[in-house]
Amino acid sequence: MNAETLRIDLDRLHGRLDELGRIGALPGGGVARLALSDADREGRDLVVGWMRELGLQVSVDRIGNVLGLRPGESAGPPVTIGSHIDTVKAGGIYDGNLGVLAGLEVVAVLNDAGVVTRRPLAVGFFTNEEGSRFAPDMMGSAVHQGFLDLEQALAVRGIDGKSVAEELARIGYAGEAPTGGFRAHSYFELHVEQGPVLEQEGVQIGAVEGVQGISWTEYSIRGVSNHAGTTPMRMRRDAGYLAAAISVEARAIAREMGGDQVATTGHIQLKPNLVNVIPGEALITVDLRNTYEALLQEAERRMYEFVERTAAAEGLEVRQRVLARFEPVTFDPVMVDSVEREAANLGYSVRRMPSGAGHDAQMFAPNCPTAMVFVPSVRGISHNPAEFTTPEQIGAGAQVLLGVVLQQLM
Ligand code: GLV
Ligand code: MN
Ligand code: MN
Repeated sequence: MNAETLRIDLDRLHGRLDELGRIGALPGGGVARLALSDADREGRDLVVGWMRELGLQVSVDRIGNVLGLRPGESAGPPVTIGSHIDTVKAGGIYDGNLGVLAGLEVVAVLNDAGVVTRRPLAVGFFTNEEGSRFAPDMMGSAVHQGFLDLEQALAVRGIDGKSVAEELARIGYAGEAPTGGFRAHSYFELHVEQGPVLEQEGVQIGAVEGVQGISWTEYSIRGVSNHAGTTPMRMRRDAGYLAAAISVEARAIAREMGGDQVATTGHIQLKPNLVNVIPGEALITVDLRNTYEALLQEAERRMYEFVERTAAAEGLEVRQRVLARFEPVTFDPVMVDSVEREAANLGYSVRRMPSGAGHDAQMFAPNCPTAMVFVPSVRGISHNPAEFTTPEQIGAGAQVLLGVVLQQLM
């Protein structure tokens, strides 16, 4: 077999992407398949069906991760391609899904060419990468790679009060395979960039060098609800005020620190949430990210100190809960080189770059050689139904993925 002659079939890959994208499709475009929802179940069933058609041996582990194995000449840890098929509440059809379906495309190419690889190959999707319904994000891969306790993950309650364990059982994906039952020889993930860099620079492929650290904190604030007209300003204990101040301060911290520091308050909830009532309760989340651990800790410290100081001045009680905390991860430079070289050999423009988004790959990186291939996101838009990557860009990324995976398989 001459590896150079193997070509991915873009129509087949894009056909699957479109078909999966029809499950949970939103009226104006995009998709809603929150982790462990009915739509997630339907998406899972479709992908598992494709895995079986391709002859993969499918296993589901206790946190609902699904892996399809294609044996090789020798046993041992499989070269693994993975990502996720859950989405945010109003997301695009590419985020995560592309990586999983490109993995299936690699299998299809090998099957069609009758290739028996030296090492086994696994293609999988990991439960709840997004973390929008259940925190933390990357839950399935974190459990799989030993960074999150299984029982703790199963007990997590989502934004609707249901637990991971209940919802896994309900959708039929509370599997029996042990979560620590297999280690990967190496791990690969093709993903849309979800940011503007590749497009702005007119570069076709990103060789990802690492993933920035992620810190999610939820603040539950309790004050005193009272009349908006009769309560003098000096007598207020306004939970809504602190939530708003946190949102403004998060942005100020990121602006002042500069560099890669980003800060987002994506969720604010006030009670009773009425025009003429001082909010007695507020809930707010803060998402801080930085490529440097020390700087991420500085942002966290500044945020925590601000919350404490401002709460005390307003007479508020605050409960703080860490929803997710992952340190920045650096990928094996040999693997980054291999992506860069493969892309260049295929005639694509390529640049090394960090990832701003979280990915299942960051859970594998400490345990095995790991590589990510990025393709451009049109206008840098993601976590939005308007997320788009052209078929040509997808074809280029999948071809690079095939090339780098083959190097480990043969
Ligand atoms: C997960 O996809 C994240 O980066 O928030
Ligand atoms: Mn993703
Ligand atoms: Mn995402």
